[in-house]
This record gives sequence, structure tokens and C-alpha cells, in this order.
Amino acid sequence: MKPFKIGLLGLGTVGTGVVRIVEGHQDDIKRQIGSSIEIEKILVQNKNKLRDIHIDPHKITEDPWEVLEDKNIDIIIEVMGGVELTKNYIIAALEQGKHVITANKDLMAQHGHEILAKAEEHGCDVFYEASVAGGIPILRTIVEGLSSDRITKIMGIVNGTTNYILSKMSLEGASYEDVLKEAQELGYAEADPTSDVGGFDAAYKMTILGTLGFHTYITVEDVEIKGITDVSAEDIRYSSHLGYEIKLLGIAERKDDLIYLSVQPTLVKKSHPLANVNGVYNAVYVYGEAVGETMFYGPGAGEMPTATSVVADLIAVAKNSVLQVNGSKPTISSYKEKKIKPLD
Ligand code: NDP
Ligand code: HSE
Repeated sequence: MKPFKIGLLGLGTVGTGVVRIVEGHQDDIKRQIGSSIEIEKILVQNKNKLRDIHIDPHKITEDPWEVLEDKNIDIIIEVMGGVELTKNYIIAALEQGKHVITANKDLMAQHGHEILAKAEEHGCDVFYEASVAGGIPILRTIVEGLSSDRITKIMGIVNGTTNYILSKMSLEGASYEDVLKEAQELGYAEADPTSDVGGFDAAYKMTILGTLGFHTYITVEDVEIKGITDVSAEDIRYSSHLGYEIKLLGIAERKDDLIYLSVQPTLVKKSHPLANVNGVYNAVYVYGEAVGETMFYGPGAGEMPTATSVVADLIAVAKNSVLQVNGSKPTISSYKEKKIKPLD
């Protein structure tokens, strides 16, 4: 079978991880989808930037249309970030019949509805597992694993940068500024870290989790947001003496016909499992009426964990395409079947 050809938008932290996994796990990928995956072209902002990965320079371009209009490319992976420009690129890719994978929560939380509708119109898949909780396959768990249940609450630590900051301040007495700088150097923080520390990144993620978990259309304006910028070293010390850790918690809760959403620094008893989620790790509690309490834990940001989710989406899209070519209905549930719809 002919190889799947990929167009990659972005070669930063996540894009580099995607190239490493696609190249390093090629044999295992081939065994699952029956053909190889080739990265055909990569869009970057600056072709001359020094990179710690070797790429054939002919594959790298600063011209988006060289990637988006390349007829050989079957799947676009968007890991460049941003909203308006990125949305235009993704819509253009879908209009050309290309499947899309994205790690962009800002984009999916704000324009997911429009993008999924466009994908459906053109018979394409759009997968976005990496947009929430990095390496934890939480979207697939909610959409597939818990699809039979009625989810009533989703709660957790969904931002790696702020958890890294808060836990280093608490466990090591480190300063806010120093740890934020470290998180940026490690590639955890957003291009504009205000999104992390201001709670917006977590709010976008809760918007996506709530939309998928409660089968309704939630926007970021529905979320009460408070970040960690006002949390002082003193607050952390006093809380600790009283037996609590401060964690930035996202909560999405369904009560009767109403949904409550918030992101805020929260006192968590030290005996609670969430109090012991440290560093860049995330954890998401999901309560279902039938299953009861479940919790999912893992690295919430960073090159390789995030790329794991992106490439898992890539394999899912490739498997769907193989099944479609063979004339059978895809058995792997795609998010487009779980369209977000207006509150009724
Ligand atoms: P980086 O800033 O590390 O990389 C961005 C890449 O996109 C760079 O290669 C950059 O080019 C390229 N790029 C940016 N803007 C443009 C543009 N206008 N035109 C062409 N190329 C552009 O970002 P990350 O890899 O950290 O994040 C990418 C996406 O993944 C974001 O949406 C982020 O929210 C999401 N994400 C990130 C995680 C993480 O841990 N970092 C985890 C989960 C999701 P150049 O290299 O030339 O500068
Ligand atoms: N900036 C984000 C975080 C990246 O720190 O969680 C992962 O989405």
C-alpha cells in the first residue's frame, strides 16, 4: 500500500516530537496500518533557525500553500499554535479533502464547531487528542471508553505549566519567576504564557472536556476563570501548614439541566490524590453515574508525551482511511460523530 503523506504545520516543541515518533516507531506504526507514514513537507516561520533534529532542508518551507495545496499530502498535522491564521489553514486543508490533526486547544475551544462542520461537509476526520492533558488519552476515554455512561463531573489539573510552578514553589520553595522561566525553557508553556498562568489554557481545555463529556456546546465564556498570578509563596506556605496544597483545578459539573464550569486555584487536602500530582503531570477525575469515580494521570505537556497523542491520532486517521478504502464503515469512533451542538 502507498505511504500516507503528512504535511506538518510547525516544527517547535510538539512538531519535533512528532517527527521523532513517526521516524522512531515506523515499524510499529506500519504493523498497525499496513503502510508507512512519510512527512512530506513542514511549514515553519524561519527556515534558517537552528534545530536539534535533522530534516531534509527541501522539506522545510515558509510558504503555507506549498503544504496545504500539495496534492500528495493526505493528512495535515497542525502544531504551530495561534487561532485566526491557523483556522484559515485548517479550513483550506479540509476543503481540499485532507484530514486534520491538531494539538490546538485555543482553536478547538473557540472554533471547533465550525471546523468539525467543515470536516463533515468534506468527509474528513479532525482529531485533537493532544489539545487536552498532553500525553493522557482523555478525549478518547470520554468519547469512546465512557460513551455508555452519563458523566456528571469532570475535574482536574489540566495545565502542566501552572502545576509545575505551584508544585516547585510548594516542594522546593522556588520563586514563581524562576520556575515559570524553567517551564518555558522546557517547552511546557504556551508562546504567550499569560494563557497558562491566567487560567485561559485550562479554561479552553475544560471547554473541550465539557463539550465532549456533556454532549453539548460549551464556550470559554461559560467558564469562570481565575489564574495563579495572585498566589504567593506565603499563601502556599500557610496552606501547607494547614494540611492543603494549592492546585489550579478545572471543574465541569452537570446538575439537573445546568452545567457549571470553573478554573481556579483551589485548596486540596494533602490526603487527596490530586494534591500529589506534581510537576508537569496532569490528572483528570471523571465521575459517571454508572462507573462511579475514575482518574487518569500522566504528563500534561512536553515534546514526547504530547507527540504521543498527536501520532496516536495520526494512526487513528490512517486506520479510518484504510477501512474506508476497503469499503467498510470505520469502526474507530471519530469526534465528528460527536458533534458539539447548541444547548437545548
Ligand atoms: P512552539 O512555539 O514550540 O512551535 C511552533 C512552531 O510553529 C514553530 O516551528 C514555528 O516556526 C511555527 N510557527 C509558528 N507560527 C507560525 C506561522 N505564522 N507560520 C509558520 N510557522 C509558524 O509551539 P509548541 O510546539 O509548544 O506548541 C504548538 C501547539 O501545540 C500549540 O497550539 C500548543 O498549545 C499545543 N500544545 C503544546 C504542548 C506543549 O507541551 N508544548 C502540549 C499540548 C499542546 P519556527 O520554528 O520557525 O519558529
Ligand atoms: N501550556 C500547556 C500546559 C501545554 O502547560 O499545560 C499543554 O497543553
